[in-house]
Amino acid sequence: TRVEYLNYDVVADHQWEFDDPALFERASDADLDPDDYGMFLAEPGETLLEAAEERGFAWPFACRGGACANCAVAVVEGELDSTVDNVLTDDLVDRGFRLSCIGRPVSETLQVVYNVKHLPGLDDLRL
Ligand code: FES
Repeated sequence: TRVEYLNYDVVADHQWEFDDPALFERASDADLDPDDYGMFLAEPGETLLEAAEERGFAWPFACRGGACANCAVAVVEGELDSTVDNVLTDDLVDRGFRLSCIGRPVSETLQVVYNVKHLPGLDDLRL
């Protein structure tokens, strides 16, 4: 899976909108630090968090077991398989939020905003 990632801090700093269809284009044009925006390949079977760490990124996490939501990401495009997610509410899942510590990329490409743990609705789910 080709993963294109963007740090939520950058989205907030630029006052970009989450549901802006050009969000990732803006990011790619903005000459951002590779920690904040870029691409990597995830191997089959890796969780998204493992894949990011494997490639040298330090994304937020705590429990690594699907119980806290510190590792939450917003999926903008593509699919993360996370069937054992017990912590995100249906509403958050409907809005595209997933847990990177248990979510395995299953689509060919994936666009995610990571570091969304402070968004309203997510910050009170953390342990
Ligand atoms: Fe706790 Fe992923 S690190 S749910």
